[in-house]
Amino acid sequence: MTKILLTGAAGFIGSHVAEYLLDQGHQVIGIDNFDDFYARSIKEQNIMACRQKPSFTFIEGNVGDVALFLPEANFDVVIHLAAKAGVRPSIAQPEQYIDANLCQTMALLQWMKVHGMHKLVFASSSSVYGNNAKVPFAESDPVDHPISPYAFTKKAGELLTHTFHHLADIDVINLRFFTVYGERQRPDLAIYKFAKAMLDDQPITLFGNGSTSRDYTYVGDIVQGIISSMEYVMSNRPVFETINLGSKNPIRLIDLVHSLEEIIGQPANIHWMDMQDGDVDRTFADIQKAGRLLHYTPNISLMDGLTRFVAWLKLNS
Ligand SMILES: NC(=O)c1ccc[n+]([C@@H]2O[C@H](COP(=O)([O-])OP(=O)(O)OC[C@H]3O[C@@H](n4cnc5c(N)ncnc54)[C@H](O)[C@@H]3O)[C@@H](O)[C@H]2O)c1
Repeated sequence: MTKILLTGAAGFIGSHVAEYLLDQGHQVIGIDNFDDFYARSIKEQNIMACRQKPSFTFIEGNVGDVALFLPEANFDVVIHLAAKAGVRPSIAQPEQYIDANLCQTMALLQWMKVHGMHKLVFASSSSVYGNNAKVPFAESDPVDHPISPYAFTKKAGELLTHTFHHLADIDVINLRFFTVYGERQRPDLAIYKFAKAMLDDQPITLFGNGSTSRDYTYVGDIVQGIISSMEYVMSNRPVFETINLGSKNPIRLIDLVHSLEEIIGQPANIHWMDMQDGDVDRTFADIQKAGRLLHYTPNISLMDGLTRFVAWLKLNS
């Protein structure tokens, strides 16, 4: 049985990871501060099933206070998913993003160093690629031009994990997730907003002209990538790797809407608006490295994943 510290456990991706780990017989200690980015009630619901399991312990609090909550630390691995997510809100509140995503990550790393813990999986983001012209985005591409405070915190987080890899022998995999969707998706994300509005016969707002594209990735595939990373980092040394987890299948915004129209069975009422600051034109993952190191293969097609998501949304909204 592996003893895992999972930050952001009550969130969208974190709750799926927690469930998977518990089903595999591992011991999971989850931390989450129920950040007010979206409703606490949704996050409580996300971890309701986990809380029934004796091998799950939940701590409500900030990652930055981990040393207070867990003075005696003996985890086999830390999976650090907690962050303030969202590109657009980070433009209005950059200092909050820098505190939650960077300063508190530093406190976590310092706590790991003090207690001699050596294994970390860290959630980064495709947003570090900014508006890079070359596609698909590969891990070796330059990522020095973030276009939102959120993207800055993720790139800076990757640099910080390297510093602690160097100073404290912490083995690290930084995972760059590409637009994750599926059951329990965050309500601020486009797929959730569009599907909810369409089910409620409300208009949807599209920014730009519909030609921006995203490499939408189903949450079950992301969970597999996280678990493989955990296993890789635990069984190898030294490790410092940065790896894309995407689908390698960019979809234009307007085609995403058409897919939802087909699944929901009605046309969308579209309101067009200008592109928003901080939004990138496209994301497109090169996933060769994930395939090579983690045996990662995304299995769920967009139509299958959206169908699962819409079925879940109908029962949960
Ligand atoms: N969902 C995506 O498409 C996507 C894409 C790229 C990267 N990511 C990254 O993956 C991770 C998980 O994202 P998600 O979509 O599940 O978001 P989420 O908001 O659903 O989950 C993050 C969780 O972290 C918690 N949290 C935030 N700050 C905290 C702090 N200081 N201390 C303790 N808990 C804190 C929140 O309450 C939330 O439950 C994040 O790091 C995010 O930046 C997500």
